[in-house]
Amino acid sequence: CRVRNYKFHVVMRNTTRLCGTKPIVTVNGKFPGPTLYAREDDTVTVKVVNQVKYNMTIHWHGIRQLRTGWADGPAYITQCPIQPGQSYIYNFTITGQRGTLLWHAHILWLRATVHGGIVILPKRGVPYPFPKPHDEAMKLGSAPNVSDAHTINGQPGPLSSCSLKGSSQPGGFSLQVETGKTYMLRIINAALNEELFFKIAGHKLTVVEVDAIYTKPFKTDTILVAPGQTTNVLLTANSGPGKYLVTVSPFMDSPIAVDNVTATATVQYSGTLATSSPTTLTNPTPQNATPVATNFMNSLRSLNSKKYPAKVPLNVDHSLFFAIGLGINPCSTCSNGSRVVASVNNVSFIMPKTSLLQAHFFNISGVFTDDFPGKPPIPFNYTGTPPKNMATTNGTRLYRLQYNSTVQVILQDTGIIAPENHPIHLHGFNFFQVGRGLGNFNPKKDPKNFNLVDPIERNTIGVPSGGWTAIRFKADNPGVWFMHCHLEVHTTWGLKMAFVVDNGKGPNESILPPPSDLPTC
Ligand code: C2O
Repeated sequence: CRVRNYKFHVVMRNTTRLCGTKPIVTVNGKFPGPTLYAREDDTVTVKVVNQVKYNMTIHWHGIRQLRTGWADGPAYITQCPIQPGQSYIYNFTITGQRGTLLWHAHILWLRATVHGGIVILPKRGVPYPFPKPHDEAMKLGSAPNVSDAHTINGQPGPLSSCSLKGSSQPGGFSLQVETGKTYMLRIINAALNEELFFKIAGHKLTVVEVDAIYTKPFKTDTILVAPGQTTNVLLTANSGPGKYLVTVSPFMDSPIAVDNVTATATVQYSGTLATSSPTTLTNPTPQNATPVATNFMNSLRSLNSKKYPAKVPLNVDHSLFFAIGLGINPCSTCSNGSRVVASVNNVSFIMPKTSLLQAHFFNISGVFTDDFPGKPPIPFNYTGTPPKNMATTNGTRLYRLQYNSTVQVILQDTGIIAPENHPIHLHGFNFFQVGRGLGNFNPKKDPKNFNLVDPIERNTIGVPSGGWTAIRFKADNPGVWFMHCHLEVHTTWGLKMAFVVDNGKGPNESILPPPSDLPTC
């Protein structure tokens, strides 16, 4: 293993997308930003130099950060922001992970343009648990880029004539393939607010890895990726010469998804004329999106081989139930007398003024309390109407976990305003999705069907709209770890909380000391 040093200059850059040019915040002038390459066991340092007028932090989404919470990146959770003109060196070691992840800004909405891929290659000499793909250089940046598609979807109204040019517009990408070869595509959903379907006309995809964890390979024609999630698929070029459309479309259970088809890229067999028109899909967005999504989610399994066992916690020390969702709170200063809030167990999280990890490590009182409720205040019919417990409280409340204890969290979508899919992301850990269902979680029946053998392991999980997801993890990483909805709008509204993991000996013995250039608030 070695040390890989990167430099990220955060700068404004005029960028052309969707037939328009404007200055955006970028890393090293690139959108999407540079891909970070490393091998399992490598140490990575990234010096982030902030040359814009906004505060900045960068999060390495899915990197475990064992004892190095200082490098995790969420603003006011593990660090104070890097202020304009300042710099900070993120320093972490990649342990027990290989595959694709992403990095992104973790302050305000800046991750819209400040994001990029992380490619972790297996240790030297250690093969993939599947046949080596022919062209392993097919990586983000040159692979079909989901974030560009989202930018297109993000335009209000129907597809503009500019968007309709599809793959010929700037940012559109053509993947050149040769008949008979197999390619690995690394797909990252860097979108702010939409879970996305990904398809390639005329081809099946073999899923081999999600969130930098190997899966049991399975074939599908549609994959579903939530914001923050990553998926590696194998594509075998065996559909005959031609040009095939790659489509990305949002998964929404709401009628507001009008602008739901976007051509973002093409797969082009060598020997095909660049000017030939692509083979399209008649149905890029599945008509019946929910069953397709459910089917995809249920097909995901950990590889659980001798070499890569699924270490599912079989016993549970902390059994938690988190009701997550949106609500409406009275608001005297709002025009219609109310405002939309989002909460976990009716607590809408308030960002502190100094970072939680600093407050924890240096024993600064008054920044947070550790009385986050392990259950919702009033159990009720989470998926029914009318709702009973809409009144949300505010607070910077954390849940304290004993170091090395095992944790189960039932994430129940409350569907108070509208059933919504929530991609919940946990920092500092991977977790196993041991169960999933629609409707209310039934504590008597549902645990009997939990998969404790080969459940999928990941860092971000889509909680189904009007349904629940059960996760388990081992709290083997001391520090302060954020958990939140990866839809930026819901995070902003308060759908977030944090865990503090302590070994009882005090943070100074469990967490490495902070780097000397750690920003102050
Ligand atoms: Cu990818 Cu807390 O974020």
